[in-house]
Amino acid sequence: MKIAIIGSGGREHALAHQLSKSKRISKIYSIPGNGGTNEISTNIQLNFNNFQSLHDFINKERIDLVIVGPEKPLTEGIVDYLESKKIKVFGPRKKVAQLEGSKIFTKKICEKFNIPTAKFKICYSKDDSFEYLSLSKFPLVVKADVLAAGKGVYICKTMDDAKTAINEIFDGKFGKTDQLLIEEFLEGDEMSFFIISDGNSYKTFNTAQDHKRVGEGDKGKNTGGMGAYSPSSLINEDLEKKILEKIIDPTFKAIKEMDDKYIGFLYAGLMIKNNEPFLIEYNVRMGDPECQTILPLIDNDLVDIIDACCKSKLEKQDIKWKNKKSMCIVLCSKGYPDKYKKDIEIENLGKFHSNENNFIFHAGTKKVDDKIYAIGGRVINFVNISDSFSSSRKEIIKKIEKLNWENGFYRSDIGYKVIDK
Ligand code: AMP
Ligand code: GLY
Repeated sequence: MKIAIIGSGGREHALAHQLSKSKRISKIYSIPGNGGTNEISTNIQLNFNNFQSLHDFINKERIDLVIVGPEKPLTEGIVDYLESKKIKVFGPRKKVAQLEGSKIFTKKICEKFNIPTAKFKICYSKDDSFEYLSLSKFPLVVKADVLAAGKGVYICKTMDDAKTAINEIFDGKFGKTDQLLIEEFLEGDEMSFFIISDGNSYKTFNTAQDHKRVGEGDKGKNTGGMGAYSPSSLINEDLEKKILEKIIDPTFKAIKEMDDKYIGFLYAGLMIKNNEPFLIEYNVRMGDPECQTILPLIDNDLVDIIDACCKSKLEKQDIKWKNKKSMCIVLCSKGYPDKYKKDIEIENLGKFHSNENNFIFHAGTKKVDDKIYAIGGRVINFVNISDSFSSSRKEIIKKIEKLNWENGFYRSDIGYKVIDK
C-alpha cells in the first residue's frame, strides 16, 4: 500500500514513523515533510494547497491512501476534492471541519444539543460587543471566528483588554469579519481528548495534557505546544463516560442531523472542573505535540485502524494501547513564539536515533547536504515512553542537554502537575 501524508510538522513525522512500521506499507510520501521525514519516507516539495497538482501527483504515483495532518487544508475542502476524484482519504470533509474552522458553528451546536461549554454571546459589531461587555463579569474571553493558530483567542482580565481585542478583531487583524464570540472564562484543568471515527461509529483514541504556554509553570505567551504527556492524569471511567455522553455523542447526533458524517481524528479541547467536562473547542485533526506522545503508545498496526475507518469498519477493529507513560518535550528556536533566527544548523542531531522507547520527531527542520537546519519555531520533538512520567522526562532532558544546541530552548517542567507535586 502506498500512503501520502499531508503536512510538515512533528505530528506528521510521528504519523510517518508509526505507519512505516507496518508490513502493509510499501511506500510513504511526505508532502512536503521535513528534515526528519525523509529518513522514513520520500519528501515531495509540492504545494498541497493547490489541490489539482496534489491530485495529479497522487494519480501519477498511484497512491492508495492520503492522510491529512493539519487543519487548514481540511477546512478548505481537501477531502471533498480528493474524494470527488475517487482518491481514498482519511480526514473530515469541509462542512464538518467547520467544527474547528468556526468557533461560532461549534457553539451553535453546543447550544442546540445542550453540550456543556462556556456561556457565550455572538456579537455582530463593535457596538454590540461593547454593550455586552458593560453587562459582563471579568475575566472573560474574546475569540475571532477564524483559524488563527490559537492567536485569535484573547483572555481578558479588564474592560480595556476586551476593548482592544474587539477592536483588533473587527479591524481585520485576522481577516475581514462581521462577527466574534465573547465567552465566560472557565476555571479548571485542560485536557486533550481524542476519538477516531469512520463515519458510522467512533472509538476513543487516548488522552493527553498539552503545555501551551512558552514559559515554565505555564507562564507567558501561548504557543502551538511546548510539550505534552499521555495519558492525562485527569481521565477516569466516570469522566470518560460523561465526555462521551454529554459532548461527543451529541456532536455526532448534530453531524447526522446535518446529513453528513465525520471520518478522521476528532480532538476535543476540554476544561475539567470537579470531574465535569466542558468543551472549549474542537480540532478536526490530531493535536501537535499530543500526537507525538500518543502514537508511540499504540500496540497494533495504525494502518489497520485508519484503513478500517476509510472502509466504515472501525467497530470490528481493536485499538490496543501499551500500559506505559509517554512524554514529549519540544526543542524550540530561541525567540519563539516571537521572532527567531532561521537556517541555523543543528549539529550532532545525527547521533540521536529513534528506538523502541525513544523517538526523535522533527518539526521545523530541513535537510541540506546531510546537515539539519532549523527553519521553524518548534524544531525537534523528543519523546520517551517508560513506566513513569518522571523517568521519561529525565531521559529526554539528558538527550536535549547532550545535543546542546546553542540556538535552542525548551521547558524542563513538562508534566510538573503529575511529577513535582
Ligand atoms: P481555543 O483556541 O479556543 O482552544 O483557545 C486557546 C486557549 O485559550 C485554550 O487552550 C484555553 O487555554 C484558553 N481558553 C479558550 N477559551 C477559554 C475559556 N472559555 N475559558 C478559559 N480558557 C479558555
Ligand atoms: N496542541 C494544541 C493543538 O494541536 O492545537
